[in-house]
Order: sequence, then structure tokens, then C-alpha cells
Amino acid sequence: MEPIISLHKINKTFKERPDLPPLKVLEDINLEVFDGEFLVLVGPSGSGKSTLLRIMSGLEKSYDGEVKLKAGISSADTSFVFQQFALLPWLTVEENIELGLIGRKISKNERKRRVAEELKLFGLEQFKNSRPKELSGGMRQRVGIARAIVTNPKIIFMDEPFSELDSFTAEELRKELLNIWQKRKPTIVMVTHIISEALKLGDRVAVLTPRPGKIEKVTSNSLPRPRAERSGDFYKLEDELYSLIKP
Ligand SMILES: Nc1ncnc2c1ncn2[C@@H]1O[C@H](COP(=O)(O)OP(=O)(O)O)[C@@H](O)[C@H]1O
Ligand SMILES: [Mg+2]
Repeated sequence: MEPIISLHKINKTFKERPDLPPLKVLEDINLEVFDGEFLVLVGPSGSGKSTLLRIMSGLEKSYDGEVKLKAGISSADTSFVFQQFALLPWLTVEENIELGLIGRKISKNERKRRVAEELKLFGLEQFKNSRPKELSGGMRQRVGIARAIVTNPKIIFMDEPFSELDSFTAEELRKELLNIWQKRKPTIVMVTHIISEALKLGDRVAVLTPRPGKIEKVTSNSLPRPRAERSGDFYKLEDELYSLIKP
């Protein structure tokens, strides 16, 4: 099967600041992401996870190596969900979601229809005229995800989307995300530093070494969903990942 994204010999060194020594953050990253899979990148803080995700998504343009998208896929088919939600505070929930569609050739009516569909899916209808600061963290990130998904992207990049949330809310949003993924079948590439989250969500988990990040191993996770976190099989995979990740 042809991958939807392939990374070939990605190397990245930050050297913009002349007053600081160059910082090598990624070394020889080779990775393929397959159509429709849920791939999780996990590694210790500072291992270059966010940098790698930004390179994959096209947000970061300066690097060595090659990022190839499958023929017919362009950056317009991708979306990004940020850890800090990145909503515009002066816009309402409805307008924030609609932002995902601005700049595309979509009529105002069609935009309204698609935003209404996402409001419903995310249980946000009663908050559609609220501003971000009037919402809980969980609701804000629902808006962040709704804005990403309203374009019906083929690929969704997510950088620690749940790590600002309390554990109950994070768990609820993970379930909702899995439902959406199963319904709409996008490819998801998510970054996290939480091993149990990686194993709850991912079909495969790519483990990065400490800086400079290299791919230590890509572990397949075929546990059936919904995944029971307190099961022997889950613990086994968790132990395996803990032993791979070096702080
Ligand atoms: N724009 C930048 N300029 C210089 N150094 C950076 C920049 N962005 C990130 N870094 C450094 O690169 C390393 C990797 O960062 P990052 O990709 O954010 O890691 P992670 O997401 O795994 O925590 C860190 O040491 C960080 O300080
Ligand atoms: Mg990061």
C-alpha cells in the first residue's frame, strides 16, 4: 500500500539565532504513514515531536530530507489541532469553526450547513454564540477539533491536544475523537508524551529517542477497541514502551 505521507531522511537543526549554538533536534527520520491509520508519536519532552509534526504538516518549512504526500493530496487536505486550542478570542464558537472553511471555494450557505453539522456532532449547539473565554477547556478543544474537521480533511495532525485538560475531560475527548475517526476515516498523526494515551488511541506508536530525536521503534498495537486499559495485553505494551523511552 502506498503511504499517504512518507518521510525520508529528515534532519533538523535550529540555527536561526547567531548568539546560540546550533541545536540538532531530529536525526535521520524515516517514517511512513498509511491511509486511514491512527499513528502516535511519543517521546520525552524536547525530543523533537512537535518539530517533526510541524515538518510533516508543512508548518515548518526549513529542514533537510523529504516529506512526500501521496499523489492527489495537498496541504488543503490536512488540518492541525494545537495543544493550546489556538482559538480567536474575539470570534464566537460558530465563527471559530467556520474559520476552517474561509479561503476555500464554499458558499456562505454551505459553510453554515457544515458548521451546523459540526456544532451538532460536538454537542456545541447551545454554545455557538459564546466566545472561547466563556467555555471550559474541554469545550474549547471541541471547538479546536471541530474547526480542524469541518473541512473534511484526509489527514489531521494533533499536537498533545488533550494535555491541557483534566484527566476526565481528556478521557471523554479521546472517546469522541475515536468515534469521529471511525466515522469519517481520516488519517490521524498525534503527538503525545503520555504512553497510556498513545496505546489507547494508536494503531501504531512511533517512539522517539531523546534529542536529537531518532525513531527508536515503531510498535504496532492491534488491541481491539474499545481498549481496556487494565488488561494484561495493555500492560504488556505499556511496559514495552516504557522500556523503549529514555528520559
Ligand atoms: N524555533 C525554535 N528555535 C530554537 N529551538 C527550538 C525551536 N523550537 C523548538 N526548539 C528546541 O528544539 C527541541 C525540540 O523541541 P520540540 O520539537 O518542541 O520537542 P517536543 O515537542 O518533543 O517537546 C527543544 O530543545 C526546543 O527547545
Ligand atoms: Mg511538543
